[in-house]
Amino acid sequence: MPPLNVILTAGEISAGVQRLARQISDDYRHKNPVLLGVLKGCFVFMADLARNLDIFVEVEFVTLSSYGRCRTETSGEVGCVLGIRIDVRDRHVLVVEDIVDTGHTLKFILDYLQDRTPASLKVCALFDKPARHHVEVPIDYLGFTIPDVFVVGYGLDYDEKYRHLPSLYAYEGDP
Ligand code: XMP
Ligand code: MG
Repeated sequence: MPPLNVILTAGEISAGVQRLARQISDDYRHKNPVLLGVLKGCFVFMADLARNLDIFVEVEFVTLSSYGRCRTETSGEVGCVLGIRIDVRDRHVLVVEDIVDTGHTLKFILDYLQDRTPASLKVCALFDKPARHHVEVPIDYLGFTIPDVFVVGYGLDYDEKYRHLPSLYAYEGDP
C-alpha cells in the first residue's frame, strides 16, 4: 500500500458539501434542476450533495472517457459523451464534477450541453486544482481548492482503488 497523506478529512468534506447544498437549494428553488453527475468519480459526492438539498431535483449521470485505467494525466483528448438519457433543452442543468484538473473534461461536456440549449448551465465541482488548468472553465459552486497532487478517496481512484475511503488523500505511490 503506497503512502496516503490526508488532504481533507471526512468531516471537512462534509462541511463543504453542506455549504454547497445550501447555496444550490437557495439558487434553484422551484426550478426543478437536473443534477448531471460525471461518473465515476462523482458518485460519492452526488449522494452526499443530494441528501443535503432541501429542494426537488432530478439526478442523471454521464460517463466520459479520458483516462486510461492507470493514467494520472489526461491526454487532452476527451472521448464521446455516453449515456445522456434526458433532453436538457429548456432545463436548468447543474453539472456535478468530483474534480477539475486540466479542465478538458468539463469544457467538453459544457460545449456538448450548450449546443442542446438548456435554460441554464452551471457547474458544481467539489475539488479544483487551479495550478493544472489548461483551459478556462467556469466553476459556479466550488467545494475546495487543492494543491497540484494526485488525490484519491471520496469517490476518486487510482487504478479503480481507494474510491471507498471517506477522506481525501494525496496519492504518493509510483503511478
Ligand atoms: P480534466 O483534466 O479533464 O480531468 O479536468 C478531470 C477528470 O480527471 C480525473 N482526475 C483525477 N482523478 N485523482 C483522481 O482520482 C486526481 O487527482 C484527479 N485529477 C483528475 C477525474 O475523473 C476528473 O473528473
Ligand atoms: Mg470525474
